[in-house]
Amino acid sequence: SKGGYDHFMEKEIHEQPKGIKETLERRLDDQGNIKLDSINISKEDLDGINKVYIVACGTAYNAGLLGKYAIEKFVKVPVICDIASEFRYSDPFVDENTLLILVSQSGETADTLAALRDSKAKGARILSITNVVGSSIARESDDVFYTWAGPEIAVASTKAYTTQIISLYMVALDFAIKKGTITEEFYKEMIAKMKELPDKIEEVLSNEEHIKELAKTVSGKEDAFYLGRGVDYNLAMEGSLKLKEISYIHSEAFAAGELKHGTIALIEEGTPVIAIATQEALFEKMVSNMEEVRARGAYVIAIAQNHNTTVEKASDKVIYIPNSDDILSPILAVIPMQLLAYHVSKLRGCDVDKPRNLAKSVTVE
Ligand code: F6R
Repeated sequence: SKGGYDHFMEKEIHEQPKGIKETLERRLDDQGNIKLDSINISKEDLDGINKVYIVACGTAYNAGLLGKYAIEKFVKVPVICDIASEFRYSDPFVDENTLLILVSQSGETADTLAALRDSKAKGARILSITNVVGSSIARESDDVFYTWAGPEIAVASTKAYTTQIISLYMVALDFAIKKGTITEEFYKEMIAKMKELPDKIEEVLSNEEHIKELAKTVSGKEDAFYLGRGVDYNLAMEGSLKLKEISYIHSEAFAAGELKHGTIALIEEGTPVIAIATQEALFEKMVSNMEEVRARGAYVIAIAQNHNTTVEKASDKVIYIPNSDDILSPILAVIPMQLLAYHVSKLRGCDVDKPRNLAKSVTVE
């Protein structure tokens, strides 16, 4: 049932505070430490791992990119994040010292499953992050971490994405504390901040009317661009995918620093540009990029933390998110992009939950 919402997608967007709470709190012990129930990777196992791959498709891949960022930052080991259909055929450096992390809502995606089987045959340790208990990927993995998002019905993934990110962050924190690459204090502080996310997401959701208004400025356009730097670029990829898959508006994500290397030529009078600026160290750089596209006629919708009000001088509209940590802000910033895509799709009369040509679970290669 849609629980009073018009579409499953809207319901699932609104279920994110609960999904994150479940994913997180089911894995905290009495002391508030992370307990990865069905993952048995010890410190010794971690010491034997010298390569980490994260492999997935679509939205799950976009979540994987944030996982890469967190693992590199916390565990201090290089991570390669790849698209399953590319990874499979790239003759990857997989051996018995490799940890392969697979991310899949359904646990049935054909290319992701094939990547699992190929890597397992080469001796890699397989850790999967999936939403479906007993799915093929869950069954064939050495270790499984379930995203407790609850069933996701809408084709466009929303709550699976945010719970995948939380799961990857928890894995990263757990590995890091075991390997001693972060302090106890940092570990505790991150967990405390993650626990604040459900309430902060509620705050973002309460801003839905504002986003619904903004959707009117995008719904009649043929193209839209998403810009970001660092993890905000990875987030831009997800925002762009959401818009194109359910509204059929052509949209692309660009690393903001790449603009002047070609893509800025696409900006015309009135082109909507969604500019994500949640990263403190990159904020001023993003403001400059907003000014650049605006000078060429773009209609800039910025997403920024509450305290960064100077963003207003470089944008037409701002969607504020509650202040948070650089690593956690993306989880807040994706919510307005999901809502924007949803309302644009609705305004255009598209089949929100079942967009054309798409299937919820891609079991063909
Ligand atoms: C987009 C979307 C898809 C899936 C992709 C992987 O909204 O839902 O891009 O993320 O098909 O599916 P799973 O996670 O089931 O492997």
